[in-house]
Amino acid sequence: MNNFLKVALFSLFIIGVYTVYSVMIIPPITPEEPPKEEAAAMPVTVDELVALGEQVYNGKGACALCHSPVAGRAPLLEKAAAVAEARLREKGYNGKATDAEEYLYESLVAPSAFVVPGFGASGTNDTISPMPGVKDPAIGLSETEIKAVIAYLQQIAGVEVTVKLDGGNAIQEASGR
Ligand code: HEC
Repeated sequence: MNNFLKVALFSLFIIGVYTVYSVMIIPPITPEEPPKEEAAAMPVTVDELVALGEQVYNGKGACALCHSPVAGRAPLLEKAAAVAEARLREKGYNGKATDAEEYLYESLVAPSAFVVPGFGASGTNDTISPMPGVKDPAIGLSETEIKAVIAYLQQIAGVEVTVKLDGGNAIQEASGR
C-alpha cells in the first residue's frame, strides 16, 4: 500500500469515528419550552399570589430596574408596605387611599398621588413622580398582577398580606381581560 492510500484510509477512518461519535455520544440539543404567559398562571393561594408578585416585580413590571440599591433612582421597597399607612398623613399626600393596601395600589397606578421626598422628577419640587403608572402601556400590568405585586410588597415588609382573593376575584379578572 502506498502512502497516499494509507493517508486516505486513515482520514476516512477518522471521519467515520467522528460521525459515530457525534450521532451516538453527543447529547442532542432540545430547545426549551417557550416561557408561559404570566397571565396564564392564575394564583389561587396567597403563596401563589406572592410568587406571581415576585415574578412580575423582577420581570414584566421592571420594578427592580429602578427600585434597587444599584440603580439608586428610586426608594427601596423592603419597608414600603410597612410605612404605607403613615404616608396617608404626610403633608404632600394628595391621593384618595384610606388604608395601606389602597395606598400601595394608588402608588402603582397613580405614582404622583404621593412623591417620596427627594425622588420627584427633576425640577418639579417632588410633585411629579418619575415612575410610570403600572397600567400604562409601557408596563401594562393586569389587575391580578397589580394585586400580586402588592401581596409581594406586603410579604417582604413582614406585614400581613391583606390582598383578598375571595370570590375567585383575581382569577376572574385574569381571564376576563
Ligand atoms: C422608572 C423607574 C421606576 C420604575 C420602573 C418603577 N418605579 Fe416605583 N418609584 C420610582 C420612584 C422614583 C419612586 C419615588 C417617587 C414616588 O413616590 O412616586 C417610586 C415610588 C414607588 C412606590 C411608593 C413608595 C413609598 O414608600 O411610598 C411604590 C410602592 C413603588 N414605587 C412600587 C413600584 C413597583 C411595584 C414597580 C413595578 C411594577 C415600580 N415601582 C416601578 C421609580 C420607579
